[in-house]
Amino acid sequence: MAVDILIGLQWGDEGKGKIVDVLAPTYDIVARFQGGPNAGHTLEFEGTKHVLHQIPSGIFHAHIQNVIGNGVVLDPIVFRTEMQKLQDRGVDATQNLFISKKASLILPSHKILDRVSEEALGSGKIGSTLKGIGPTYQDKIGRVGMRIGDILADDFQDRYNKLVERHRKTVEFYGQSLDLGEQEQAFFEAVDYLRTLKLVDSEYMINEALKNGKRVLAEGAQGSLLDVDFGTYPFVTSSTTLVAGACTGLGVAPRHIGEVYGIFKAYCTRVGSGPFPTELLDEVGDQIRKAGNEFGSTTGRPRRCGWVDLPSLKYSIMLNGVTQLNMMKADVLTEFDTIKVCTHYKLVSGEITDQLPHSIDTGDIEPIYEELPGWKVELNQIESVDALPEAFNNYMSFLEEHLQVPITIASVGPDRKSTLRRERARIS
Ligand code: GDP
Ligand code: IMO
Ligand code: MG
Repeated sequence: MAVDILIGLQWGDEGKGKIVDVLAPTYDIVARFQGGPNAGHTLEFEGTKHVLHQIPSGIFHAHIQNVIGNGVVLDPIVFRTEMQKLQDRGVDATQNLFISKKASLILPSHKILDRVSEEALGSGKIGSTLKGIGPTYQDKIGRVGMRIGDILADDFQDRYNKLVERHRKTVEFYGQSLDLGEQEQAFFEAVDYLRTLKLVDSEYMINEALKNGKRVLAEGAQGSLLDVDFGTYPFVTSSTTLVAGACTGLGVAPRHIGEVYGIFKAYCTRVGSGPFPTELLDEVGDQIRKAGNEFGSTTGRPRRCGWVDLPSLKYSIMLNGVTQLNMMKADVLTEFDTIKVCTHYKLVSGEITDQLPHSIDTGDIEPIYEELPGWKVELNQIESVDALPEAFNNYMSFLEEHLQVPITIASVGPDRKSTLRRERARIS
């Protein structure tokens, strides 16, 4: 069987957790392949909201194997808290969670490096989640990092000490001192806990499963516009957030890739710094933030809000080979009489384009909008696509025509149940 992959097409927080949870029952394995505790994936069902950071969103189904792949950077302290929260809610994840021995370890000193590096950037800061993501991936690529498998080695403590010494020097270079405080003890306790779990060679596990006809869903974190190569560099995260990242982050060959679900909001949001061509800095932006409860699942920061941006969606669809689209949070736009869609950009040269320029400095791009009638109907009680208002169907058809990919899921509320499946439309 193939590996299907779900990828965020914008700047993250598209609703990946919700849709992975909805799709999960038809899969045998759900796997995370990149990112780490910078992610915050929200799931809502039976009146309860859950936020996952490192644990895959298939964890609430006991029969599904959940894998933290080699491409992930894992913080043992955050992980332990996540496991405890699940336990408190009656979910024992110890039997259906598998962690790659090749996943990278986030040390307490990585988090300090993240903060120190952001402080040094001053007004040019990335707006990192300060979870240690950048420094941990730097160590991985620099070939000095530590991996989950190392916690089983006799010289684990030695290797840890050596790496922390490196970090100490870097922190001192920035004119600060490395004070790990209670974090170090919490780290070692969490590592002890990790040793009791299923630490595996997940590349073998997943490839065996595929050979045996099992279905695998890979759960992306962040979004395509935060990809380290193709995102709005340098205001990106430090991993490959695209479909290609699932190959290296799980050890799956490209020929095994099946469906690619591209997930996006009916509008657009971003947390942290960096360009955002359709950002609304006015009361309309505030209205969307309020209606959509657009505050970060990981850091609680208010999310920047704007209209949907088709040039950037086309770009993400191209890079990922998206086969079906999932449109999220359309219910949030119910209050608007008209809804704007950015179809093209006007560049300073006067050129009109639907492609992303090499560097998208928001000041240099003027979004060109088409305005569509709003639907003005509460969507979250609607249970069938046949009951959807015409204006809403027209909105989806408009997007499908521009993007040339069918919208197969329309999400109209945070709950698992507020999910409408659509036939693959024939796109003209
Ligand atoms: P992720 O990081 O892509 O998993 O997304 P987040 O969980 O960070 O952010 C999505 C937010 O929108 C969460 O609070 C979800 O509960 C919520 N959400 C998801 N789908 C819908 C929807 O269709 N309508 C509304 N109103 N909220 C939704
Ligand atoms: P999910 O999986 C939204 C953003 C940060 C910052 C930039 C770099 O929930 O969609 P990092 O901590 O990775 O070094 O921060 O990336 N960012 C996210 N924004 N959703 C996320 O994850 C994000 N993970 C990182 O805000 O701008
Ligand atoms: Mg999120």
